[in-house]
Amino acid sequence: MAEPPVLRPARPGDRAALEALLRAAELPGEGLDEQFPAGYAVAEDAGALMGAAGIERYQGNGLLRSVVVAPRWRGRGLGERLVRDRLAWARAQGLGTVYLLTTTAAGYFPRLGFVPVERAEVPAALRASREFASVCPASAAVLALPLTPPISARGRGHVD
Ligand SMILES: CC(C)(COP(=O)(O)OP(=O)(O)OC[C@H]1O[C@@H](n2cnc3c(N)ncnc32)[C@H](O)[C@@H]1OP(=O)(O)O)[C@@H](O)C(=O)NCCC(=O)NCCS
Repeated sequence: MAEPPVLRPARPGDRAALEALLRAAELPGEGLDEQFPAGYAVAEDAGALMGAAGIERYQGNGLLRSVVVAPRWRGRGLGERLVRDRLAWARAQGLGTVYLLTTTAAGYFPRLGFVPVERAEVPAALRASREFASVCPASAAVLALPLTPPISARGRGHVD
C-alpha cells in the first residue's frame, strides 16, 4: 500500500496544479488568487498534488474553500486530514467561526463538526467575498463551525 500523501502549507508554485485538481472536481477556481497561498494546505504524493484545502480570512472569521482530493485518494481519510489541518490553523490564528459553501458535499462536513446555517447568519464581510457573492449559486448550502481557541490562548485577557 502506498504511503499516504504528506500535508504541507501551499506555495505559489502549487497554483496551477491546484487549479487543475479543482477543475477536474468541477469546483470553482474563481477568486483563488485573492488569498492563495496563505491559509492553504496541500497534500503531496511523490511530488504530485493529491489534495488541498484553504481558509480565507474575513475580519476574524474564516471561509473554508477548495476542499478537494484526487479521485485515486478519495475515501481514505485525506479530505478529513486536510480539513482538520486547516481548522487547527484557523484556531491558531484566533479565527472565530469557519464557514463554507457547498453544492456537492453538504453531507460530508457534519462529521467534522459543521452545522447548516442560514445565509443571513453569515457575517457581512464573508458574504461580500468572491465565493459568496458570485462563485456559488444561491442554492448552495452554508455550513459553519465555531472554533474553540487553543488551550494556550484560553483565558488570555481574563481578569477575575
Ligand atoms: C469531498 C471530498 C473532499 C472528500 O474527501 P475524501 O478524502 O474522499 O473523504 P474522507 O476519506 O475524509 O471521508 C470519506 C467519507 O466521506 C464520504 N463522502 C465523500 N464525499 C462526500 C460528499 N460529497 N458528500 C457526502 N459524503 C461524502 C464518503 O462516503 C466516506 O464516508 P464513510 O466514511 O461513511 O465511508 C472528496 O470526495 C472530493 O474531492 N470531492 C470532490 C470535490 C468536492 O465536492 N469538494 C467539496 C467542496 S465544498
